[in-house]
Amino acid sequence: MKKQIITLNINGEDLELRVAPTDLLVDVLRKEAGLTGTKIGCGQGDCGACTVIIDGKAVLSCLTLAMACQGKKITTIEGIADQKTGEMNPIQKSFLNHGAVQCGYCTPGMVMSSYNLLSHNPKPTRGEIKRALSGNLCRCTGYILIFEAVEACAAEGGVL
Ligand code: FES
Ligand code: FES
Repeated sequence: MKKQIITLNINGEDLELRVAPTDLLVDVLRKEAGLTGTKIGCGQGDCGACTVIIDGKAVLSCLTLAMACQGKKITTIEGIADQKTGEMNPIQKSFLNHGAVQCGYCTPGMVMSSYNLLSHNPKPTRGEIKRALSGNLCRCTGYILIFEAVEACAAEGGVL
């Protein structure tokens, strides 16, 4: 299908990208914008590896048409680190410090869901954390270390 140039606001920057009407956001992020931090796991809405934030909501980019994102603010895993210094966001540090990362494939999606939760709810309960991460699957960690990483980040000052 014929591609056209559209503008997407990604991590605070307006990018002009070549997009066909049927292109999925995850593919445009990875192939056109070069932002390969967002992962493709199942490709059908089951695993959460492709989670990004659009206008303050955690969204599955494998189920989202890129063209539908025009005029919206898209944040990917690359956008939550300090954009000047490159220093990791506190939630990224917390995942590392609490052993919440093993193979790492689910991690960008887990981090984005956690970041979005803490952005809206700085002191979530364990139940709220479980609900926020219920769409993110991890085959390695057993989840407990991930929940602890989110709790520790909240206790240490949150994501902002
Ligand atoms: S790749 Fe999008 S939910 Fe699995
Ligand atoms: S760390 Fe391997 S899938 Fe989560």
